[in-house]
Amino acid sequence: MEETPLRIMGLSGSYGKSSKNGMLVDLALKKAAELGADVVYWDLTEEPLPLIGAEGCWSDPITKKFQEEASNCDGFLVSSPEYHGTMSGVMKNTFDWVYEKHVGGKVFGLMATLGGMENSNTLNHMRIMVRWLHGIAVTQQLAIGHVKEAFDEEGNLVDEDSNKRLQSLVESVLDTARMYRNSK
Ligand SMILES: Cc1cc2nc3c(=O)[nH]c(=O)nc-3n(C[C@H](O)[C@H](O)[C@H](O)COP(=O)(O)O)c2cc1C
Repeated sequence: MEETPLRIMGLSGSYGKSSKNGMLVDLALKKAAELGADVVYWDLTEEPLPLIGAEGCWSDPITKKFQEEASNCDGFLVSSPEYHGTMSGVMKNTFDWVYEKHVGGKVFGLMATLGGMENSNTLNHMRIMVRWLHGIAVTQQLAIGHVKEAFDEEGNLVDEDSNKRLQSLVESVLDTARMYRNSK
């Protein structure tokens, strides 16, 4: 019997697909789709998640839809811009809308973009956050420094080494998600 495809959600810590993080998540999802996954991109421009604690936030139907969609996924490809040495508030707020019951035991691939030189701050902070949610962040990760120059006009990464790392990250997320699914 043919296996049901893995379902993978893309999450960006910036608004819109034309942001660098939107582009990076889009590229990662394309690679996941090429490997047979069903992919979904949660576009905050179309479906913005309210700030946690803002008036009316707990009854906002978008948050329920987001939680349901996250619950239906096997894994996540996530990218945040680095802001002041850590993930963006948008990224953190997105994660604040899910709990262990939605994403526990699911697999995460972590990416970050920086205006300056690459480092692992944002990746490390996201790794801690994912652990708190009982998610499984794969060991591969990708930081793209000097991100303004990182993409060509077709939305591909200019640097071949970064492209290979992205491919390896996506493969690892799918392999690990498959392993966890088959172990249930
Ligand atoms: C408020 C703010 C803080 C930032 N802090 C950093 C930083 O600490 N280190 C860095 O390399 N770039 C920093 N940047 C640059 C962003 O990382 C860069 O613009 C972003 O990765 C581009 O992705 P985007 O197009 O998805 O927004 C900062 C940008 C903003 C707006």
